[in-house]
Amino acid sequence: MMPFKKWFGSKSQNEEWIERIDSENIPSHVAVIMDGNGRWAQKRGLPRVAGHHSGMKNVKKITMAADAIGVKVLTMYAFSTENWKRPREEVEYLMKLPLEFFPKEIDELIANNVQIRMTGWHEGVPDYTMKAIQDAIDQTKHNTGLILNFALNYGSRREMLQGVKRLTEDVVSGKISLDAVDEAMFSSYLLTHPLPDPDLLIRTSGELRISNFLMWQLAYSELWFTELCWPEFTEKHFYEAIQEYQRRARRYGGL
Ligand code: IPE
Ligand code: IPE
Ligand code: MG
Repeated sequence: MMPFKKWFGSKSQNEEWIERIDSENIPSHVAVIMDGNGRWAQKRGLPRVAGHHSGMKNVKKITMAADAIGVKVLTMYAFSTENWKRPREEVEYLMKLPLEFFPKEIDELIANNVQIRMTGWHEGVPDYTMKAIQDAIDQTKHNTGLILNFALNYGSRREMLQGVKRLTEDVVSGKISLDAVDEAMFSSYLLTHPLPDPDLLIRTSGELRISNFLMWQLAYSELWFTELCWPEFTEKHFYEAIQEYQRRARRYGGL
């Protein structure tokens, strides 16, 4: 009996990797900091944006790899609130990627029952970018499979500050009592609500930092880093991260 829902791509190869994974211990939510696109391109004598293009093409591959083993939520860090500091041309290029990505991939995402979501502020994102994303969200909102959640124009500190302000307003106005404020209540004021916290965080490109990503939500996530840049990160590496996750003992402070 096959433990996983389906095979895909080059069957024998993926089958081999998937066979080493314990189907009883799959992380429900995997978050990915897709880093190193620019360096990947520069190493090849290409402009940084060529790395972004290559990185975009990798998103579907890893989405399918996650879906094949039963991951429920895949959050992909696509653009941070700090990335606006980059040269205008690079930002513009990044903001046009959803216009290429969704029309190209939406049929296959729908065929796989994937739901598209976005975590981040819509304000500040160009209208054409938001339209491409919103169309994909609308087209997939009745799907019940993997949630492919793009963190775009997202930053954890701003998210927490906004949460604190809104929570405070609700306490001051008497909508909720201060005694009712606990961790679950605070979580409900974050942009990621109602998604579960990530079980596993993957960051590519050799950087060993969080870069303002999901700082509240990652409190007890397992962290996995690789020197590989995002465009060269394949299904095989994804499954290596999953296997490593399965070797970890999650203690949450207990024994
Ligand atoms: C990640 O790759 C993509 C975004 C941050 C949008 P980078 O563009 O950060 O690539 P490096 O880290 O400069 O190589
Ligand atoms: C984090 O990568 C953001 C995304 C991958 C979207 P950065 O390249 O922006 O992070 P820093 O600047 O190296 O910390
Ligand atoms: Mg980077």
